Parts: sequence; structure tokens; C-alpha cells
Amino acid sequence: MEPIDPSKAYRLLESGPIVLVTTAQDGKPNVMTMGFHMVMRHSPPLIGCVIGAWDHSHKALVATRECVIAIPGADLARKVVDIGNCSGDDADKFARFRLTAQPAREVAAPLIGECLANIECRIVDDSLAGKYDLFILEPVAISLNRTRRERRTLHHNGDGTFCVDGRVIDLRERMILWKQFQVAL
Ligand SMILES: Cc1cc2nc3c(=O)[nH]c(=O)nc-3n(C[C@H](O)[C@H](O)[C@H](O)COP(=O)(O)O)c2cc1C
Repeated sequence: MEPIDPSKAYRLLESGPIVLVTTAQDGKPNVMTMGFHMVMRHSPPLIGCVIGAWDHSHKALVATRECVIAIPGADLARKVVDIGNCSGDDADKFARFRLTAQPAREVAAPLIGECLANIECRIVDDSLAGKYDLFILEPVAISLNRTRRERRTLHHNGDGTFCVDGRVIDLRERMILWKQFQVAL
């Protein structure tokens, strides 16, 4: 085993898929790229997200307490990186990246028409936002887009390189303690 710096843990653990986060403040929609997220609980469903204080999205999320987590397919890879390399402070990213903002059901932040899925979320706990930029979100609605031809998602290695979904290994018959989670999307 070769030792590496503990600060590199995210390079090994940063889970996918890379996602886009939309917000809308004062009627202005915005979108950012996010890799630092994790599912935390099944019921009620909870998702932890790190959205840095330097991001326009952070201010919009704090002000509105809601957002949409959109899952892009691999066909959007270049846009995903570019969206995470500019700020809504300076640009209308929906126009710049030709994204289709669609009305959400439960929140003011828009869905992204080009994404595979859109998860509408509300903040349930921001007690660690000041310390770690960590927001605990509860999904309140999900919309799936089954029309996209590209179904593979992107998984960030933390350095601008990405893995693309590969072969599915089906081990459901061994999930003897967790049969309740074997439900189709
Ligand atoms: C691949 C990738 C992953 C990123 N992951 C995160 C993240 O998890 N959290 C975060 O705060 N910023 C992350 N960023 C940076 C934001 O997307 C970036 O600061 C963006 O410009 C913020 O946009 P905004 O100012 O319009 O909110 C990531 C950027 C890229 C390219």
C-alpha cells in the first residue's frame, strides 16, 4: 500500500452521479454543478449537499430554502463542467448553456428539461451550513425524463475527469435483508 495525503480522500470517495443544482431567487433561475452529495436516509428521504458559501447558489438556497437536483446524462458532460466554472453572479447560465427551464411542481426553482431526472428539494436542516456549507435536503417531488437516449450518468473523480456508467452487476438475489429496496424507478 502506498500512503497518500488524507486531504485526497474525496478523490477516492466522491460519489456520483455528478449533478446540477437549480435555484431561483427573485424570479432569476440559476444552475451550478455539484459532486459533494450523499443520500442519508430512506424515510423520510434525506440528502446531504455541500454548496460553498462563494457560490451564487448558496445565497439563493439560503434565501429561498429550496432547490432542484437535476441528474444529467453523459451527453451533457462538457456543459456540466462549464456550468461549474462560471457564476450566476455574472451570467444567465440557462441562456448561456441553452438549458430548458421547466416549472417544478413543489418549488420555485426550475427543472432542467435536458436532464434524466429532477429532484425537487427543501432544506430541512441547515445547522451545519455555517460551519461546513452542508445542507440537509428533503426531496418533495421527482420527475423522470424517459425520453433521453443517453441513459449513462457521469461520476466525478474530483479532478475534472469522469467515469461514465458501465456494466450493471445484478446481485439482487443476495439482498436477502433488503428486499424492500428492490423497486423499479
Ligand atoms: C465537476 C464539478 C463539481 C463541483 N462540485 C461542487 C460541489 O460539490 N459543491 C460546490 O459548492 N461547488 C462545486 N463545484 C463548483 C461550482 O459548481 C461552481 O463554484 C459554480 O461556478 C457555482 O455557480 P454559482 O455561483 O452560479 O452558484 C463543482 C464544479 C465542478 C466543475
